[in-house]
Amino acid sequence: MAHCIFADPVQHCFTTPNPPYRKGARPARIRAWFFAVAVMSYRQWFHELDQLLAQHRGLWQLRPFSLRSIPWQEQWPDLAAAISRLSLPQVNALSEQPHRLYEMLGEYFPDAHRLHRLIQVPPAPIQQQFGDDERLSYEVPGRKWQQIRAFVQALPARNLPLLEWCAGKGHLGRLASQAMAAPVLSLELDPQLCQDGQRLADRLQLAQQLQPCDVLGRQVRQYFQAGQQALALHACGDLHVALLRQGCQHQVQALAISPCCYHRTREDLYQPLSTAARSTNLQLSRQDRQLAVQESVTAGQRVRRLRDQEVCWRLGFDLLQRQLRGCDEYLPVPPLKTQLLTQGTFTDFCHWAAERKQLVLQGPIDFEALEQAGRQRHLQIRQLELVCQLFRRPLELWLVLDRVLFLEEQGYQVSLHEFCARNLTPRNLLIQAQRRGSASQEGGWSSRAQA
Ligand SMILES: C[S@@+](CC[C@H](N)C(=O)[O-])C[C@H]1O[C@@H](n2cnc3c(N)ncnc32)[C@H](O)[C@@H]1O
Repeated sequence: MAHCIFADPVQHCFTTPNPPYRKGARPARIRAWFFAVAVMSYRQWFHELDQLLAQHRGLWQLRPFSLRSIPWQEQWPDLAAAISRLSLPQVNALSEQPHRLYEMLGEYFPDAHRLHRLIQVPPAPIQQQFGDDERLSYEVPGRKWQQIRAFVQALPARNLPLLEWCAGKGHLGRLASQAMAAPVLSLELDPQLCQDGQRLADRLQLAQQLQPCDVLGRQVRQYFQAGQQALALHACGDLHVALLRQGCQHQVQALAISPCCYHRTREDLYQPLSTAARSTNLQLSRQDRQLAVQESVTAGQRVRRLRDQEVCWRLGFDLLQRQLRGCDEYLPVPPLKTQLLTQGTFTDFCHWAAERKQLVLQGPIDFEALEQAGRQRHLQIRQLELVCQLFRRPLELWLVLDRVLFLEEQGYQVSLHEFCARNLTPRNLLIQAQRRGSASQEGGWSSRAQA
């Protein structure tokens, strides 16, 4: 039997500065979640996503940058025609409003509606309230602090020693330690960050120790102890997977992890964690997993404009280098300085790139036509990427549910929520796990039944 996470899911809301809805309101998004996935077990949820991702892999397991035409045009002619009609501003607007994207493309690709239902994740219930003590957020960038506050608010107050994983300057540990009146050990690779973080903790006389440590090394084992609660905010790829494995091995009492950068791993091919993911046919390359985090909701207008310009220039130069070399293959060009983008022209860029690649620019070259062709290619790529984008969050959820199912298999009761609004960070998924049978499990904290 499956059951839902909250007694009344609509009673809960985020406490970010831009809450997507007010407390007590019954917004459509919550209703959508409640009727779409609330009654499914995590295993069923994973299987539904897995089936759709595998069935439509031709639409998203591709490299739009290297393609000259729409590879799935014959199979989905109406979808191909619909995206080809979109202008760049329309593409940009749709990619910033995922619900509109699913709605619009759903007319031509009906499974978009199913995908949309499957990406509804409930917001984390607020477990603790605390004031805004400015001494705690000293030297922390505003957006980061808001993420940290939302993360800690979602943690049930447990009286357990805390272990912070890949801590940076230990900002998360500092707030969690204060909010829960618990000591925290913060592990971080960079000794300078440890030193800076220790200074911030000491000025408030907090029970926080920042410990230089490579969490991928053997020595990390010594920092685990019985009855710990482990926290990890945005530890990349192998780093949070190491916590999942080590935490289970050392039977930590509770874990709260917001994963990110699923492609930052030693292995190129995805190494599934749960039995469910090990038995699927879906094989994920590093590049596939990159799609799961390809989203820049936090980039400003200027950054976006410069990025668009850079891509257009690179694509224009790509056409030129193919002519010059007499070879129809993409040639990677190294990163360029922003100054060239802001102060140079497309022609300057071509000279710069040609020099880097030991190419001689000879004969009459129509730079204007090349620049225009680059812009056209950019639009086609962005149109193709829109369709890939339908699968971005489903893929991220597939990866996160693999972690959830792994924890369930290891004897934990698990819940999955969004801990903050997407505009604060698109990596807003929070996995919480509590060892089954542990004392602090009582008190209304529940997860989904396993299938
Ligand atoms: C994306 S930052 C997140 C920092 C912090 N949790 C936050 O959200 O502000 C990842 C951190 O992991 C640290 N890190 C990278 N590799 C590590 C390793 N092998 N062992 C421990 N820490 C590591 C980095 O130095 C960096 O501070």
